[in-house]
Parts: sequence; C-alpha cells; structure tokens
Amino acid sequence: MIEDLQQLKDQALTELAAAADADAVEAWRVKYLSRQGLLPVFLEKIKTLPKEQRPEAGKAANLAKLTISDAYEAKKEQFSTVTSSAPEDPTLPGRPVPWATQHVVNQTIDRVVQIFRRMGFALATGPEIDTEFYNFDALNTPADHPARNEQDTFYVDAPADRDGHRWLLRSQTSTVQIRAMQTQPPPIKIVAPGRCYRRDEIDATHGVFFHQIEGLVVDDGITLADLKGTMEYFFKEFIGADTRVRFRPHFFPFTEPSFEIDMARSGATMKGKEWLEIAGCGMVDPAVFDNVNIDSRRYTGFAFGMGVERLAMLRHGINDLRLIYENDLRFLSQFK
Ligand code: DAH
Repeated sequence: MIEDLQQLKDQALTELAAAADADAVEAWRVKYLSRQGLLPVFLEKIKTLPKEQRPEAGKAANLAKLTISDAYEAKKEQFSTVTSSAPEDPTLPGRPVPWATQHVVNQTIDRVVQIFRRMGFALATGPEIDTEFYNFDALNTPADHPARNEQDTFYVDAPADRDGHRWLLRSQTSTVQIRAMQTQPPPIKIVAPGRCYRRDEIDATHGVFFHQIEGLVVDDGITLADLKGTMEYFFKEFIGADTRVRFRPHFFPFTEPSFEIDMARSGATMKGKEWLEIAGCGMVDPAVFDNVNIDSRRYTGFAFGMGVERLAMLRHGINDLRLIYENDLRFLSQFK
C-alpha cells in the first residue's frame, strides 16, 4: 500500500513538472486532485485496510497529499496571469476616474423646475405611497373611473387608513395638489415633480413607473389665459423657440374645462407621429376646492401635469422610453 502510494506520488510529481502551460496544469489537476482523481480515489482505499495498518498508511497518505498539493500550488503560480516582476512605478499617472453625469430624468426635472421657479413657482413634494383619497376621491374622481381599477393601479396590501381609504402607489402627481391646498391658503403656486406608478404594458412610450411634474396655481382672478400663457412660455423655454404647442379639449375629473397639450418640434417625430401628447391641464374644478375647503366662489386656479420621460424624449430625440431605464452608460453619458 505504502509503496503504491510512493509510486503514485512520484508519477504525479513527474507529470506535473512536465506540464508546459496552464492548460496542462489544469488537466493534471483534474487527473490527480479532482473528486474522482487518482489521489482521492487512492485515499478512499485506506478506509478499507485492516484497522492496525490504517494509522501508518493514513500518515503517509497525508504527507503525500501535502507534497503534491504544494507542488501544484507552486506550479500554478508559475502560469498565473501576473507575470511581470517589475517593481511598481509610483510616478505613473493614476487610472482616470470617469465623472458621473446626472441621470437624464433628473436633469430634465431640474430644468423644468428651474423654468417654473423663474415664473415664481415653489417646489412641492408628496409621498409615492398614498391613499385613494389623495389619488382619487379628493380629485373628484368617481368610484367607477377606470384608473381606480386594480388592473390600472397598484394597490398596497396594507390596512386601510382610518377613513377606510386603501393605500396605493400613486398613479399621478396630482395628489400633491390636494396636499398643497390642505396645508396653505391661496395664493398657491407650486410645481411638484415625482415618480408615479401604473399597470401599463411596457412599450416604447409606457413603463410601469414614470415621472410627472404637476403644477397648481390658485389665486383671485386666475383665468384660462394664464394657463395658456404659462404653458406656451414653458415649452418654448424648455425645448426651443421652434416648439409648437396645441391645446386639445379633453376630460379630467379634477379640471373643468380640461385640455391635453400636444407638442411638436421641427424635424422630430415620435413613433412616426409629429405630435406627442405631453401634458394634461385645465381650470381647477370647483368640486376639488370644496374638498379642501377653499372658497370656490372666490378663488379660481389652473393645474397641469406632464410626463418627464416624454419631455426628455422630445428634447433629446430619444425614440424609446426603455433606453432611459436600461442604465447603459453609453446611452446615459450622452446627457451632460
Ligand atoms: N394627472 C393627470 C394624468 O396623470 C395629468 C393631469 C391632467 C394633471 C390635468 C393635471 C391636470 O394637473 O390639470 O394623466
């Protein structure tokens, strides 16, 4: 037995010494050291020896194993990728660390907010997990409105709030309108950027989450002319003087009258379409004022909500929303 072991060891070391490259060393390892390799298989046999012979054989076997694995480690080192033994040169320039850029979504939000700040708007925020009250009821959205359906909105599996309202991932930033009006009397002039969630099929212009920027102005004597002027100014500032904007009559539960704003830019098309729907807006519905105890006979206001990703797509000529979230630096680092 011990002689056999000696022979196996010599054979292994000779073959190892002859291995001429990393592949040969690996083949050698598989042959001798892997689970079904010659050495482990041999060592298994020791267990079958008569009891008196086992201690001596075990000792010899351990020694052989150590010698072989030491030789293997040394040989492996020889072919490892670190081949240079030159001393380090501390005067070499360091590896450049690339500057990060702000994500195109945040760049877009910042730009939009900046423009509105110049017009005197303040920044407001609200929670992404909110109740149906803020997302629907207070916004005059009836119980049978499709957006309230479980297929359209993500409801959170949590106990209802004390008024029995369910929790959800907000489907629009319009929730912040209500929060703003609850916490301050008019005049109110806010913009509220943030993330929203919907159960949309993912495609070139839809995701399950996206960003909106909400706006709300409430004061004495606010008219539709203020809304139109504000929106037109904004889009020309944001995209460029060649931007065209059109207002299309629409319906939103919380504004009356309501419009959709479409925008086009010379030379740019989106999925082959010239006009891209970019925002909703309208005059605050008196029913909404009633929900937050603002005197609807005295005050009027306008509100708007727009999609940040779509603004970014139009501004930069991006043709697929999904690019924005793939986190491919080749794409993202274009936006400085
Ligand atoms: N919340 C609407 C949406 O998600 C957008 C919107 C439309 C916001 C009209 C408004 C508004 O403030 O007045 O589709």
